[in-house]
Amino acid sequence: MANQLPEEVIEEVRKANDIVDVIGEYVQLKKQGRNFFGLCPFHGENTPSFSVTQEKQIFHCFGCQKGGNVITFMMEIEGFSFYEALKFLADKSGTDLPESASSPQNSLTQENQRLLSAYEWLTKFYHHLLRHTKDGKEGYQYFRDRGLDEETIEAFQLGFAPNAKDFTKEFLDKKGFHQQLLIKAGLLSLQDDNSVSDRFRGRVIFPIRNHLGKTIGFGGRAIAGQEPKYLNSSESELFQKGKLLYNFDLAKKHIRKRSEVVLFEGYMDVIASYQAGVKNGVATMGTALTEMQAKLLRRYADRVIICYDGDSAGTEATVKAAELLRRTGSEVRVAVLEDDMDPDNFIQAYGAEAFQTQVIQASDAFIGFYIRHLKKDYNLSLEGERIKYIEAVLDQLAMIESPVEREYYLKELSNQYNITMETLTEEISSRRRKSGFHQHKSDRNRYTREYAGKPKTNKLLPAFQNAEKKLISYMLQDPYISDKVREELGAGFNMDEHQIIATRLYAHYEEGNSADVSLFIENLSDPHLRELVAEMAMTPLFEGISDKEVNDYIRIIRTQASASGSVRELKEQQRLAEQQQDPVKAAQIAMQIIELQKQLKNIN
Ligand code: CTP
Ligand code: MN
Repeated sequence: MANQLPEEVIEEVRKANDIVDVIGEYVQLKKQGRNFFGLCPFHGENTPSFSVTQEKQIFHCFGCQKGGNVITFMMEIEGFSFYEALKFLADKSGTDLPESASSPQNSLTQENQRLLSAYEWLTKFYHHLLRHTKDGKEGYQYFRDRGLDEETIEAFQLGFAPNAKDFTKEFLDKKGFHQQLLIKAGLLSLQDDNSVSDRFRGRVIFPIRNHLGKTIGFGGRAIAGQEPKYLNSSESELFQKGKLLYNFDLAKKHIRKRSEVVLFEGYMDVIASYQAGVKNGVATMGTALTEMQAKLLRRYADRVIICYDGDSAGTEATVKAAELLRRTGSEVRVAVLEDDMDPDNFIQAYGAEAFQTQVIQASDAFIGFYIRHLKKDYNLSLEGERIKYIEAVLDQLAMIESPVEREYYLKELSNQYNITMETLTEEISSRRRKSGFHQHKSDRNRYTREYAGKPKTNKLLPAFQNAEKKLISYMLQDPYISDKVREELGAGFNMDEHQIIATRLYAHYEEGNSADVSLFIENLSDPHLRELVAEMAMTPLFEGISDKEVNDYIRIIRTQASASGSVRELKEQQRLAEQQQDPVKAAQIAMQIIELQKQLKNIN
């Protein structure tokens, strides 16, 4: 990979960052045999085909073929340049990077880098004002009145933007930020008379951080009845509400630990719950849950508890979010609140303990909640309405993967409305057939051995390609096999890419390196080759391959090479014969070619 940094440094950073830990921050990984599996963060999927090996320090997705080592993973997932990925990992492990002579490439535009820097300054500035100055006193008092303690105010870096026309403007001016940029980001506003003034005036500030903990936007809440109640930074490349979840950076380790996330509607709900001990909470920011957010959550947790406002808008939003989350493969539970309450009000009224036990822990399986919720829409004393209700319930039950759980609700329906189980079961089957549900495996089968690391494509490959792949797989883990192959086959692989990889591998071992795939990958500049190597290194192999097996592979590869060489030669002769107007000879050669191709087919 092109870089100016000494190899030892790259090596040190790579060694200091275990790939399972790093990827574990993005994907919920489960151990399966020697490898870890999870849902691929690079393509949408419901059964995990993304695998990571600790031993080899590489990853590979059997679904989309992405693969590489810890550094290329960071480049792919964050869109980092090589240097940024290295810097990120170095910071994480506390390794020092030498100052690079040339200015490192940055994947962010200059404008976005400036904006990040402005947000960083402002977050500190507003927080400082709130905590320590007279100007911020009313903001501080506001949060204290809403029950937040010092520690929470600190954890969320809550702040206050004073009610002055150009407090912020002057602060940022002094730091040398361009006004145009700040107006575009919605930190300053342009007035009708073309003058520029602070946008978040007299509001308490909720810094909105991305998953890396960097502030990329503000939510500003009015504290003196100004309209609107909440004012947010403008949407931009950096701040996209549909892709972010409030508090995800702080919550993610708690989410992963419990494999459970609590989804809220508001900033204050997240913060109050956090203070009440529910630390795995995140929130959307005034918009409906998006598919992107649902997928993100799915990668981190098996279960989502939706805890929205208790009013009818909240209930409607709950149903919508739940449907999306279930489609994405999450188990959904619903924490129900009294009609006019939101989580923050509840905690204020009844305390942390009650919130944990009576709301979060007492959450219902989605389906139970939904069946109750649906009832409100039908007048069940009328037969027609009753049937419609039952059909709506069946639509939902058909989506449940677990047969046991389905049966549980069907029995309830059967008892309550006096319909035979047979009829209900038939209704469910036909719905599942129609929506193609029966093809899906049940949740419980998710992490079975069945798919664990079986490349689907191998069966379809001709024998020589398989032989080449297998051989390289062995060569990657054993320098002695590589040596043997080098002596007997050299660069005689039939596939160009295998030829390149083998040649590079010979060199890798010759330079005294060990069978370190991650390092080997590091030194390949072509992403396609890297992915191929990751794939071959992930192929499950038997311990201790025999010499005979190696010889067999070599023989298959050689036969293919010489046969295709002969075919090439014969074709040339055939062309000559045709040129010399010798149809008999040309026909004879054609027969030979067919014969050879037949043989080739047989060995393949
Ligand atoms: N929101 C917004 N703009 C508004 C109102 C709401 O962006 N004008 C977003 C905010 O992210 C807010 C969330 O929607 O946190 C939920 O709104 P709401 O329920 O009205 O506010 P609460 O979270 O209850 O706020 P508070 O308790 O401070 O009144
Ligand atoms: Mn509220």
